[in-house]
Amino acid sequence: MILKSYSQKMQTLILKDYEEMSQVAANEIIKTIRQKPNATLCFASGDTPKRTCQILAERILNENIDISNCQFIGLDEWIGIPPENEGSCTYFLMNYLFKTLNLSPNQYHLFNADETKSVEECKKMDDFINKSGGLDCILVGIGLNGHIGFNEPNIPFTNYCHVAELDELTVSVGQKYFNTATLLTKGITVGLQHLMEAKKAILIANGAKKATIMKAVYESEINNQIPATIMRTHPNGLILMDEAAADLVVIR
Ligand code: PGA
Repeated sequence: MILKSYSQKMQTLILKDYEEMSQVAANEIIKTIRQKPNATLCFASGDTPKRTCQILAERILNENIDISNCQFIGLDEWIGIPPENEGSCTYFLMNYLFKTLNLSPNQYHLFNADETKSVEECKKMDDFINKSGGLDCILVGIGLNGHIGFNEPNIPFTNYCHVAELDELTVSVGQKYFNTATLLTKGITVGLQHLMEAKKAILIANGAKKATIMKAVYESEINNQIPATIMRTHPNGLILMDEAAADLVVIR
């Protein structure tokens, strides 16, 4: 799938380092909450959004930002990995954001990793997002293969929530989140169509290891072999990179 034309509206900001990138990302999410106190917000887990989540939680608490009417969604989960496993996306979001904010369980929505429940889990999440009128803000990272969440290479851009077979690279890189070698085969994820329908989509990338894929995001055709290229078509997309991740990117 290749889109030939794309919106010029997506913005790019290059920040000095991981800390600055995370501050700007947290600030963008806070802007959304201030504009819409009942915002529906979707969060990736992983090394990249860790500091954004911490800063966001600190600022919400320190600045007394009212989030009592906000809803929080987890972007994805490893199929078969229970929430108490420290490598699960649920564990990450609970620990870096939801517990700190003292959210009540009816304010957060996380995928159940049980494969037998995946069809109903996707439907439940799709229904919830649709009922909310779409996502107000989605924060995502990028995999070394260009994935967003578990929207792996070759996934249709038009997918809503779905289960994906994981790419070999995702499986090998994913081991870093786990204490012991872990069998990872599939993931359940919010789809790129939800990202495209989100009122604001923020992609964050830091570190030299992301430089090659970020160059591809800007320079390749918009192509679902590199799912993150779809960001270039988002009418209110924002890519935040630190200098190391942006090192090979030439913005035209
Ligand atoms: P990372 O993962 O934030 O741990 O680099 C990104 C991703 O694979 O989406």
